[in-house]
Amino acid sequence: MSTIRLGDEAPNFTAQSSEGEINFHNWLGDSWGILFSHPADYTPVCTTELGTAAKYKAEFDKRSVKVVALSVDGVDSHHGWIKDINETQNTTVNFPIIADEDRKIATLYDMIHPNADSKLTIRSVFVIGSDKEVKLTITYPASTGRNFDELLRVIDSLQLTAYHKVATPANWNNGDDCVIVPSVANEDIPTLFPKGHTEVKPYLRLTPQPNLN
Ligand code: BEZ
Repeated sequence: MSTIRLGDEAPNFTAQSSEGEINFHNWLGDSWGILFSHPADYTPVCTTELGTAAKYKAEFDKRSVKVVALSVDGVDSHHGWIKDINETQNTTVNFPIIADEDRKIATLYDMIHPNADSKLTIRSVFVIGSDKEVKLTITYPASTGRNFDELLRVIDSLQLTAYHKVATPANWNNGDDCVIVPSVANEDIPTLFPKGHTEVKPYLRLTPQPNLN
């Protein structure tokens, strides 16, 4: 078991998947990535999640994000389950599902929380930057399906704040005003943020989202 923290390099692995063998880092290339785990094949919540992820492909592509799922069943089981997902969710699964029968990757990424379930993975999400660094982790119990709009929202924030000296406030959505990070001196604001800013308090300075026209 290893604890993976924000800023760590995402551990690399080679694994079988529904789309053949994957070397994780090579497969990511220069893209961002989402690695998300599922308790098991042929389970109801996971079926809806994988169908939803497939339907969001255009949104992930727009953000240069590659999606890969993981479940602790084998490739043959994954292929049968994918047919069910496509049929019941009215979509086509368009990303690989890793077959982690020996739980090697689940262990590497600490996806089994024994006090919740000794064998099945919980619902982990790892967002990985194009530099292979872990940018975000979220952990859900098996009983709670993920919100894919929230995943897009946090990816928008992660990609914005990676390139601009801003942070995103509570309930921020793409297009909303951003917070200027505390390390920016007031005298540098006009150059860095030509759209202007509002000083609510000396430590709370807002500016229009810098990467929008
Ligand atoms: C599910 O994916 O539906 C699920 C799996 C384990 C426990 C509860 C729900």
